[in-house]
Amino acid sequence: MKFLIVGANSDVAKSLSRLLASKGNDLILLSRDRSELELQENDLKTRYNSNVIVEPFDILDVGKFEEIFTKYKDVDCLIYVAGYLGDNQIALNSLEESDRIMRVNYLNAVLFINKFALEFEERKKGIIVGFSSVAGDRGKGSNFIYGSAKGGFAIYLQGLRNKLFKSGVKVITVKPGFIDTKMTENMKLPPMLTSTPEKVARDVYGAISKGKDIKYTKWFWRWLMLIICLIPERIFKKLNM
Ligand SMILES: NC(=O)c1ccc[n+]([C@@H]2O[C@H](COP(=O)([O-])OP(=O)(O)OC[C@H]3O[C@@H](n4cnc5c(N)ncnc54)[C@H](OP(=O)(O)O)[C@@H]3O)[C@@H](O)[C@H]2O)c1
Repeated sequence: MKFLIVGANSDVAKSLSRLLASKGNDLILLSRDRSELELQENDLKTRYNSNVIVEPFDILDVGKFEEIFTKYKDVDCLIYVAGYLGDNQIALNSLEESDRIMRVNYLNAVLFINKFALEFEERKKGIIVGFSSVAGDRGKGSNFIYGSAKGGFAIYLQGLRNKLFKSGVKVITVKPGFIDTKMTENMKLPPMLTSTPEKVARDVYGAISKGKDIKYTKWFWRWLMLIICLIPERIFKKLNM
């Protein structure tokens, strides 16, 4: 199969690319940092003799969407991994920071995926995988700008899944909890609740193979978030989260 990965330099995407390449799949890797992409390309070609194409791409560059779509619309699976956590406190007072958080995690993701969704629908075949987050399941004081973008993205993917079901197109929502990556390198994460990029990659690969709709990773986040979502708002608002 041919996979297009947007945000291919993310730590999770790197693990996923290695896993997909090891199974003989072809990869098109898009991300901003060209030298990081080229390192991956060399590594995947050396290790697995893979067919890999890399291309620098900034999801904020809407003017390039048509070109990318035209070049790569024949892929079997689109995986949108790009994410930007940003700083909630800075974002509250900075148009630029909040704009970036919302565009990378939601708005431009939607605009980009829409093109492939229509193409896959017409072809009656294809898989779309989008990375949301458990942060999108319930808004909390520490990261609600990122969380609201991820929540919006999850609702978008849910609606898309509903629309494309009839055409046989699969839409998978990935909802990770904490992952030990460059996104969280300055945070003190609880070890029991924290996953690795390799484990998340295996979970996502499993979700694609089994045709899952929603994949929480680690698995227990589904139940943890269910409990968190059941806490009455009058109590939840008093918790320091
Ligand atoms: N880490 C966690 O704890 C956690 C938890 C829940 C959900 N998630 C989500 O899971 C996904 C993977 O996370 P991660 O921790 O692996 O991320 P990461 O290592 O921080 O990587 C994020 C990647 O997104 C790419 N990106 C950012 N802005 C971009 C833009 N404007 N255009 C194109 N690419 C852009 C970057 O690519 P370049 O390096 O090329 O700039 C970066 O490598 C993300 O969607 C994240 O929000 C992560």
